[in-house]
Amino acid sequence: MKDILIMGIESSCDETSVSIVKNGREVLSNVINSQIKIHEEYGGVVPEIASRCHTEVINIIMKQALEKAQITLENIDAIAVTQGPGLVGALLVGVSYAKGLSYAINKPLVAVNHIEGHIAGNYLTYKDLKPPFICLIISGGHTHLVNVKSYNDFEILGKTKDDAIGEAFDKVARVVGLGYPGGPKVDNLAKNGKPNIKLPVTHFENLDFSFSGIKTAVINLNHKNPNINKADLCASFQTAVTEMLTTNVRKAVKLYNSNKIVIAGGVSRNSFIRKSFDDLAKELKIKVYYPEPILCTDNAAMIASAGYYNFINGERADLTLNAIPNLKIGD
Ligand code: KG4
Ligand code: ZN
Repeated sequence: MKDILIMGIESSCDETSVSIVKNGREVLSNVINSQIKIHEEYGGVVPEIASRCHTEVINIIMKQALEKAQITLENIDAIAVTQGPGLVGALLVGVSYAKGLSYAINKPLVAVNHIEGHIAGNYLTYKDLKPPFICLIISGGHTHLVNVKSYNDFEILGKTKDDAIGEAFDKVARVVGLGYPGGPKVDNLAKNGKPNIKLPVTHFENLDFSFSGIKTAVINLNHKNPNINKADLCASFQTAVTEMLTTNVRKAVKLYNSNKIVIAGGVSRNSFIRKSFDDLAKELKIKVYYPEPILCTDNAAMIASAGYYNFINGERADLTLNAIPNLKIGD
């Protein structure tokens, strides 16, 4: 069978990325231009600045992706672009660019849901991983528990009722003075602390999550007692949010009689969360999967991989394609 090369384009938040992926599984290039340094001084992503940065660099990043993969535009079979969810202005840069490119070189265009892209990060890391499986997506903007029935069929089992987990990490980091993006900083500081501060973990009948109560409790404790041990506070925060995650995953694994659990999204880089899921997998005698670190946070390789499965499923976008900032998984 002929190899299929997909060019992935990602611009949903503060990473401009273009990648070339072979047959949905093999990364030939994955160029990522992170804007973290630019947004750092504002303590978070400034949407308009993000869009402007994407516009400036996207064509350069595309050329680098081709160069690294040692191919030309002629060689690609289709262009896959993130349609949503994400920041509308940021998404529009990638979508408009992909449409222009697709028209200019006369290659098919495929729309990709960013959350489905995060799931596909695992297909690049584990060449043999195939649906069905239960997937927990934990990122800056999303917290979803999903039944991945096939490459193109997703059922949401649970989601956050308030903040996304990454948002809570970033907020906690900011109030304890660690700066942006907070997730990796909380992760590191927590290694020196003890989870000895009790925080409120709400459990629901269903498989939904909630992080704002835990986050607010951390903010209040820090406000009332500015000398509180920050490492202990971070360790306690991580323990509380992880308890929320493992409780629901344990329930879902039993409910769906699943023998594997797949984790995805930026927060899946967290060392404590990984350790906790390793322990859970041992306890339940199941297998746990996480993408390699670079494929956890936003990147275009995961978009190209998800795009490949949409492409071989016959999905095509036309030049009326628009960004959908609140696109739901499975839409
Ligand atoms: O998947 P991603 O790049 O963007 C979204 O699609 O939202 O995730 C970014 C999020 C940020 O909130 C960042 O703080 C978090 O992932 N993150 C982490 C770690 N590394 C990145 N959170 C906890 N621990 C980490 N080691
Ligand atoms: Zn993401």
